Amino acid sequence: MKFEKPARTNPIDRQTVIGKPHPRIEGPLKTTGTATYSYEHDAAPNPACGYIVGAAIAKGRISSIDVAAAKAAPGVLTVVTAANSGLVHKRGFTTARVLAGPDIEHYHQAVALVVAETFEQARAAAGLIRVNYARTDGAFDLDAARESARPHDSQPDVKIGDFDRAMATAAATVDQTYTTPDQSHMMMEPYATIAKWQGDRLTLWSAQQILGWARRDLAAKIDVPENKIRIISTYVGGGFGGKGSVMSDAVLAAAGARITGRAVKVALPRPLMPNNTTHRAATIQRIRLGAGRDGRLLAIGHETWSGNLRGGGPEIAAAQTEVLYAAPNRLNITRLATLDLPEARAMRAPGEAPGMMALEIAMDELAEKLGLDPVELRVVNDMKVTPEDPGRSSATDPQSATSQGHKKAGGRPFSTRELVRCLRLGAERFGWRERNARPAARHDGQWLIGMGMASAVRGAPIMPGGARVTLDAKGVVTVETNMTDMGTGSYTIVGQTAAEMMGLPLDRVVVRLGDTDFPDAFGGGGQAGAATVTAGVYAACVKLRDAAARAVGFNSADAVFTDGEIRSGIRRVPLARAAQAGSIVAEDKMEYGDLSKRYEQQTFGAHFCEVAVHAHTGEIRVRRMLAVCAAGRILNPKTARSQVIGGMIMGLGAALMEDLVVDKRVGFFVNHDLASYEVPVHADTPLQEVIFLDELDPTMSPLQAKGVGELGITGVAAAVANAIYNATGIRVREYPITLDKLLERLPALA
Ligand code: MOS
Repeated sequence: MKFEKPARTNPIDRQTVIGKPHPRIEGPLKTTGTATYSYEHDAAPNPACGYIVGAAIAKGRISSIDVAAAKAAPGVLTVVTAANSGLVHKRGFTTARVLAGPDIEHYHQAVALVVAETFEQARAAAGLIRVNYARTDGAFDLDAARESARPHDSQPDVKIGDFDRAMATAAATVDQTYTTPDQSHMMMEPYATIAKWQGDRLTLWSAQQILGWARRDLAAKIDVPENKIRIISTYVGGGFGGKGSVMSDAVLAAAGARITGRAVKVALPRPLMPNNTTHRAATIQRIRLGAGRDGRLLAIGHETWSGNLRGGGPEIAAAQTEVLYAAPNRLNITRLATLDLPEARAMRAPGEAPGMMALEIAMDELAEKLGLDPVELRVVNDMKVTPEDPGRSSATDPQSATSQGHKKAGGRPFSTRELVRCLRLGAERFGWRERNARPAARHDGQWLIGMGMASAVRGAPIMPGGARVTLDAKGVVTVETNMTDMGTGSYTIVGQTAAEMMGLPLDRVVVRLGDTDFPDAFGGGGQAGAATVTAGVYAACVKLRDAAARAVGFNSADAVFTDGEIRSGIRRVPLARAAQAGSIVAEDKMEYGDLSKRYEQQTFGAHFCEVAVHAHTGEIRVRRMLAVCAAGRILNPKTARSQVIGGMIMGLGAALMEDLVVDKRVGFFVNHDLASYEVPVHADTPLQEVIFLDELDPTMSPLQAKGVGELGITGVAAAVANAIYNATGIRVREYPITLDKLLERLPALA
């Protein structure tokens, strides 16, 4: 099916199942521990276990590797190294190779996989491997590497108007530099895979977000045709971008299974994850704002620096600024330095998440200089059309590109843009009027109280995607697509879409996800999943409706599917009857015309928060948070809310805790486990409220829906930082905002 014109009235609009807060249909399996995650599949009677050995240097060469003792250890079946892996070392999705040798590209890059009868035997033998390294110097310090940073093809410079002149004539200016640290996805479920060969066919049970990419990249890395590889990812325990394609667990499990002829299981131990896999790059961002007395921006400049391994891409932290605030004079510059730290890649709202951490503090600083309310400053700078930015090309990778939109020709209208409504409604509901603009003016006993806010924006990509739907003689509809569910609610919204289309209650729909044998629906990434897969299910269901109506002798154009029946005029028959002579199978894919080029498709929001900072210890407690989101039709308010509150908690972590600390001498992330990489826990999480605007975006798909999972994190950390400033008068521009950054400067209690 082609989606080329804005959506018109269709069966989804009835909203009898869609739009309802159904609990996750797979929830009982998860809460009872019976949902089978990748490592837990019963793939073979006695699978072997693999244990990965990570490099102990960041850069250099393996001068010798002695695996003899490991090979002779009890239970060991093989030791896979670059010498015997049979890997072709193509790079594919990741820039770094999954198996080092002789060159080492980053710390904890895999140098060997030990395969043994048991996990304990593999781990014990791994400790017997002796590696001698020839270490070379590397670049590990982003600030030091800034001088050598270069432009990147994906992000051409934007220079509109006369930026310097506008800054020089502005009534108020801000020129500040902000830093965000490296961050780790730290999803609950580790990277984990079981690999099994049957002849020349490989099956992988692997924790993945995007099965098409995983298969494509695995095929390239092990030199096996894509059609010989099947990947199954039934349940995924979080990903946040980190499981965007195959990592060392998947590739080395496949190699180990090929060598041993056994099914091989590999899970990355937690301490290996941050350095062995990927992370969100640290940024340095310079923001320059110049405004007139009325608050209107005359100049907006956002420059960002990040680093990556040679060949990797930048963290595009400045990109969203081009679709957020209007200003006639603009500067938008992305620079990339070469670093020898582990590879940087997408992590939840790549680009916007760190970019808004900086921009939205700068806006708070500007509001204060102008004596304007921070909400009003954002309102007066709302944008009507995208800036004319000659020379930008369109993005192709929705996971690492902020959006598909902002790099296209300027002067385009937004498909929907409800930023102002989000800001105003949020201010009203949060009680923003009670905020005292003067910092450190409110306290509650020994706690200084402050409020902060920030805008939110995140691209709303949609990808071609399909599904297969089957109606059986019992009247049950089964949906199959290779979409994944990493805890987002995909199972449920896929089921709701099919139920609505076929006029069934949700419990008459079976949803099967996460298998490359099913039609391609892209997967979970870039906040594209919800909109993409439901459009594919819609397309398939249109075909199934047509076939079912014809099967009972109705004219499909006037058949109505409702209450488990097909109706036409005064005639009605049970839906099941259509499949009496055998199941009806329909498959289709939604493909798109140029609406995404003609309209800028974004999601918008506003975040508000209240913090308490202890006047003597500097302890920071976030007391309440509110998000208002405009993200098209909300397919399921419960799963969508869970996405947003999860994003808000992650934003809180970004504000106060998350920090992969770089050892700049050795070149690795020191705190590479959950004992020392801090993330918020329940006790850190305040009262959270989420409001969804009633919005439909007819340019997206017949469902008029967009994703929300990444909108939830953008802006949050800045709202927290701004609240801390309001509470204390201390402006921290280096995340995370830890107590030591406040302690010496805390104001005396009034
Ligand atoms: Mo997301 S970081 O695009 O999976």
